[in-house]
Amino acid sequence: MHYTSRPTVVIGNWKMYKTIVEARVFVSSLAVAISHTSVQIGLAVPFTMIAAAAEAVKGTPIMIGGQNVNEADEGPFTGEISCKQLQDAGASFVIIGHSERRQLFNETDESVNKKVCKALSLGLRVVMCVGETLAQYEAGQTESVLQAQLENGLKNLPADHLNQLILAYEPVWAIGTNKTATPEIVQSVHCFCRKTVAGILGSSVAENMVIQYGGSVKPENSAPLLEQPDVDGLLVGSASLVLDSFIKIIHAQRMVHS
Ligand code: PGA
Repeated sequence: MHYTSRPTVVIGNWKMYKTIVEARVFVSSLAVAISHTSVQIGLAVPFTMIAAAAEAVKGTPIMIGGQNVNEADEGPFTGEISCKQLQDAGASFVIIGHSERRQLFNETDESVNKKVCKALSLGLRVVMCVGETLAQYEAGQTESVLQAQLENGLKNLPADHLNQLILAYEPVWAIGTNKTATPEIVQSVHCFCRKTVAGILGSSVAENMVIQYGGSVKPENSAPLLEQPDVDGLLVGSASLVLDSFIKIIHAQRMVHS
């Protein structure tokens, strides 16, 4: 049992899946299914369907977000998108620094930091992702890797927007692999992250910060993860593409708190 004032936040990351029509149908059905939950729910959808999804969730508590953003206000950056453009389309949050962006699109802690600063300062909620690779995990480097990602990623943030920052711990070896970190590993890493954030941003920010776990989250493993005192939510990839499993994951929180 989990006695915290932090909300539970469950976010689906749709990556490069689905069409606009599929998004509309999904979010409308989701809105009906979750009308009585206290869980905060978000969907990070491809840019092309942000506007349609945001329209479909109007009047519901579901948040729609992007999966990446550029730190510049505007400019000649072919293929990029700005915070204001995300907000203009109806997004209220953005995922920054997902391991797929770090590994496949060369994002660094420095670029992640610039994006986080800009998005927070413009009023977007931010889900900043951190996590170690399998090689780093096996070499016992999890804490040193996370410490560096946090120290570099959380530099010079706008102090008055820190309550809009969510941290997502996503061990790279658990993403899309069907290997979930055990609840015990996740709890100990989240506790380490909270202590590290306290050193960087102060203990009150750290105490109030939502820390999500991500990596092969499924309906079956959600409740044991959410039972951990420092697990305040889940970032869900493939299981968020299937309405029934995403709803079960959201409702797993009820089992934890009942
Ligand atoms: P997964 O993805 O749930 O499919 O492992 C998680 C993520 O990449 O955010």
